[in-house]
Amino acid sequence: MEIRTNVSLRAMNTFGMEVKAACLAEYSSAGDLRSLFPAGELRSDLPRPWYHIGGGSNLLFTKDFEGTVLHSSICFTSEPEPAGDGEVKVRVGAGVIWDDFVAWSCGRGLWGAENLSLIPGETGAAAVQNIGAYGVEVADIISKVECFEPVTGKQVSLPVSECGYGYRQSRFKGEWKGRYIVTSVTFLLSGNYSPRLDYGNVRSAVESVTAGATLTPGVIRDAIISIRNSKLPDPAMVGSAGSFFKNPFVSEDVFRHVSQVAREEGLGDVPHFTSQDGNIKIPAAWLLEKCGWKGAVMGNAGVWGKQPLVLVNATGKATPQEILALEEAMVRSVRERFSIRLEPEVEHI
Ligand code: EPU
Repeated sequence: MEIRTNVSLRAMNTFGMEVKAACLAEYSSAGDLRSLFPAGELRSDLPRPWYHIGGGSNLLFTKDFEGTVLHSSICFTSEPEPAGDGEVKVRVGAGVIWDDFVAWSCGRGLWGAENLSLIPGETGAAAVQNIGAYGVEVADIISKVECFEPVTGKQVSLPVSECGYGYRQSRFKGEWKGRYIVTSVTFLLSGNYSPRLDYGNVRSAVESVTAGATLTPGVIRDAIISIRNSKLPDPAMVGSAGSFFKNPFVSEDVFRHVSQVAREEGLGDVPHFTSQDGNIKIPAAWLLEKCGWKGAVMGNAGVWGKQPLVLVNATGKATPQEILALEEAMVRSVRERFSIRLEPEVEHI
């Protein structure tokens, strides 16, 4: 385990915010975690509060952090274990880079994770946030989540059915916040042919690279990577935290109001998707585009020209205040024009 004080977090958040943590503890086993929480609380010589980060790809540090940032270096991928009907279970350490696991599973010809290619972050955080893209959520392929519980010092194993997964939601983010630290995730993957191509332009992107050849998880991974690269900034070049806002679910009344505004202002049909509970999902990207945010710049902060859901550290020198000012202006404009309050997907610390 490595414990350092007064550490720059710039390389540990994909937005590239220049903030510091009073202390950073990088642990590599459940035993390390037990020693960090000897009596149900963080070791008394370490500054509080504590906050656990993954790849820092879904958060915005709004100022220096006065406590201890925890980060997992639990990095292992087990050999696939047969689970019947052509399926296998694979247990993965929380600190494994998410996309390294996706590349590994596609390389083995295993179906399940390919649509989630190239999402930044680590495996433990993926299970906390229920990452999703191109018609798949990580909850669809999780079998169980193993965690350390600081208060009891115990290791617990939570089946997927107990994790309360929903759109970018889980009990880890809600009522269990701070209760568990994910140490590993077990996935259920399939050796049986099972491509999922029904989201947006996935099918046409796949067909353009395969030209009729047999589909494999690796081929779909390549197609997803090319879609993402064409729409989203390369994290190595431009700081961002991916989609900054969630897509809002609204009532029929609100949807009617948005449709009326769109008609009056000649904005065309409002893209939408009706969920099982009758609420209607409107893409935040559409609302933001219609408010003129694509490619906008405010000081050192900006909005990605090809996807207005993505706020960027345009010059590499943006401060948290500049990102927050841009966020506020975007939320205000959507609220004033469409009466919808956008919620950030990115966690503010
Ligand atoms: N749209 C516009 N203008 C744009 C882009 C999109 O009007 O510039 C509208 C279109 O109607 C389009 C719709 O928005 O059909 C949906 O766009 P897209 O498929 O690109 O997805 P998204 O809703 O913008 C979500 C996730 C992404 C994920 C993509 C693909 C959220 C908040 N975002 O974006 O996740 O990659 O779907 O599945 O759910 C992330 O979470 O960081 C992330 C990038």
